[in-house]
Amino acid sequence: MQKTILITGSTDGIGLETAKILLSQGHRVLLHGRNQAKLDNVEKQLSALPGAGQIECYIADLSRKSEVESLAQAVATKHATVDVLINNAGIFHTPEPITSNGLDIRFAVNTLAPYLLTKRLLPLLPPLYSVGVYYWKQGEGSLFLECYPDRSSVVTPSR
Ligand SMILES: NC(=O)c1ccc[n+]([C@@H]2O[C@H](COP(=O)([O-])OP(=O)(O)OC[C@H]3O[C@@H](n4cnc5c(N)ncnc54)[C@H](OP(=O)(O)O)[C@@H]3O)[C@@H](O)[C@H]2O)c1
Repeated sequence: MQKTILITGSTDGIGLETAKILLSQGHRVLLHGRNQAKLDNVEKQLSALPGAGQIECYIADLSRKSEVESLAQAVATKHATVDVLINNAGIFHTPEPITSNGLDIRFAVNTLAPYLLTKRLLPLLPPLYSVGVYYWKQGEGSLFLECYPDRSSVVTPSR
């Protein structure tokens, strides 16, 4: 069954590879990036995959709260439901670690943006199967999944 899947940070790395696999399986993938040229290039590349599902592109710099809000609004305008939200976009090394409003950019992109985007999109997501993916052990590459029991809360990750 075809799903509608939003992957933040799908212009590179794990997000891009995930988009390739999901599109190859025929799902509709909502690609997200912060660089229009890179996003266009990825869209072109992924459209050429055999049996690729439908692609949509969204642009937003997730270090800016207003752009996280705009991304959620743009997705909600086009879709009554989103089956899966993959909060993948993240940043680690950067020459400019502070945002224009004084936040650590890693905190803004890796923590605040996924929280806000998830919160805004919760009404579109399935009620019992919203899943958060968290990076647990910095440097060790471990991931774990946590399911939220309802739409109203985003709980703190725990082991
Ligand atoms: N690679 C690892 O070993 C590893 C291990 C554990 C966890 N993780 C986590 O997994 C996720 C993906 O890692 P990765 O290695 O695939 O990273 P990556 O190759 O650097 O890709 C990160 C993606 O996030 C986007 N992004 C970064 N800053 C952004 C911003 N301000 N606004 C919007 N998009 C932004 C990037 O856009 P651009 O293409 O424009 O740069 C890119 O699409 C990250 O959250 C990372 O912390 C990675």
